[in-house]
Amino acid sequence: MGKAIEFSHVSKQFPGVKALKDVSFSVAQGEVHALLGENGAGKSTLLNILHGVQTDYEGDIFLSGEPVNFRNPHDAIIRGRISKVHQEINVVRDLTVGQNVTLGYEMVRAGLFVDYRKVNKTVNEILGKLNCDFRAEEMVSSLTAGQMQMLEIAKALFHNSRIISMDEPTSSLTEKETSSLFNIIGELKKSGITVIYVSHRLDEIFQICDRATILRDGEYIATLDVASTSKDELIKMMVGRNVSSIAARTIDCVQDEVVLKVEGLSRSQHYEDISFELKKGEILGFFGLVGAGRTEVMRTIFGADKKTAGSVFIKGKPANIRNTRDALKLGLGLLPEERKSQGFISFTSNADNTALSSLQKYLTYGFVDTRKKYENYSRIADEIKINPRQPDFLTQNMSGGNQQKVILARWLSTDADILIFDEPTKGIDVAAKMEIYRLMESLLKEGKSIIVVSSELPEITGISDRIIVFHEGRKMVELSKPQFDEQTILNYAMGELNT
Ligand SMILES: Nc1ncnc2c1ncn2[C@@H]1O[C@H](COP(=O)(O)OP(=O)(O)OP(=O)(O)O)[C@@H](O)[C@H]1O
Ligand SMILES: [Mg+2]
Repeated sequence: MGKAIEFSHVSKQFPGVKALKDVSFSVAQGEVHALLGENGAGKSTLLNILHGVQTDYEGDIFLSGEPVNFRNPHDAIIRGRISKVHQEINVVRDLTVGQNVTLGYEMVRAGLFVDYRKVNKTVNEILGKLNCDFRAEEMVSSLTAGQMQMLEIAKALFHNSRIISMDEPTSSLTEKETSSLFNIIGELKKSGITVIYVSHRLDEIFQICDRATILRDGEYIATLDVASTSKDELIKMMVGRNVSSIAARTIDCVQDEVVLKVEGLSRSQHYEDISFELKKGEILGFFGLVGAGRTEVMRTIFGADKKTAGSVFIKGKPANIRNTRDALKLGLGLLPEERKSQGFISFTSNADNTALSSLQKYLTYGFVDTRKKYENYSRIADEIKINPRQPDFLTQNMSGGNQQKVILARWLSTDADILIFDEPTKGIDVAAKMEIYRLMESLLKEGKSIIVVSSELPEITGISDRIIVFHEGRKMVELSKPQFDEQTILNYAMGELNT
């Protein structure tokens, strides 16, 4: 089979960071090729170069043997017939699906006036082929994350792309959306389209990929046949050493004291009648499918959303939390799920972003003491291995996973003793996940208590003392450690089991 893409001696230097070092490998026509590596390994950078987002690099790229050099992503789509499904969903919300698909290209193709009847007809045919349950005439703002992802794929097909790359496409998708995405990838492959697939969820690699290329620290390590390798071998190549990929707890420090009690909490149209207790030194897991209402419950407890009924008690006392400032004062901390918009400030350094919610800790004579701020950042950066580690590095220039770590550092810096982590390891590589689990355990040892919201079953069963399962805004069941069975939990989450 021919080579769809060949990377030849590709290097990329950012100020202070060599993101890619002389990378050479090729992707075969019609295969699903995984690109793997730890956070900051250079995966997104390589894709950005391929798609003309980054135009300043060394080395050569060949598509079907022809050297290419795209000026921008539009150029790549039109001339190279190569499209990217973004890590961060990238659509204009106030347009229709049809308008979005043709955005930026309609002028070129149809002259000055766009014939939307024709466009919508073509787009609807593509949506039909993709088995999508929405139509070209609908507004994008009404679509779910999964539907928006499908929209991006439709866009690629509309432009007859022969190569489609996907950077962590499933991180915001439901189970159902993920499995339909995998069906579509299978179909794309059958029609000869080449797919490059980036994900930190290794199980997915074994489900859909033919070969995998591993990058470590900007360097090419190897290209392997997925069928003849194992998860452990892939991890070892990514990390450079043996790392367990099992989220097992090593200590138990649950005490009797109830630090947080929630009674009959409701927010109409979001969730109803939620009650639970969190004990000191405990990790309480909240499992559910994406959209089950767990994030909304946590936002209400944290004072970010209003409740319509119910009460919250902290350390035995009724807590009237009207806003997030009240919550912080009562010792609550929330690592939000939507980190791009709620997590860090642009044009701000790692150390400053880390200090955002704990400024009073770094004061000397009423002024923020930079040294104290840097020390605090550096201590946590070492623990969770933030890379690059420089305190004055701009967070926005970090890789996706390392941005997540900075936001995690921000919440670890507060004196909160009840920490709520919403999808704490989304976008985080295997090795760093394990560091984060160990860190959680050290927080438990300090007497803190943790709620973890996660859609990853192995994570939730591995780290929780108890698990509450959600389905469509309702608490379905509460399970204690010996009862953790993945299939049972999934059945509750899908509403197929009821207590
Ligand atoms: N605009 C930029 N300025 C400076 N450094 C950058 C910039 N973009 C990326 N980098 C650096 O390049 C390196 C590679 O980043 P990249 O985003 O490609 O990693 P990745 O493999 O996609 O990681 P992740 O799994 O976390 O998404 C990182 O060290 C990152 O900090
Ligand atoms: Mg990335």
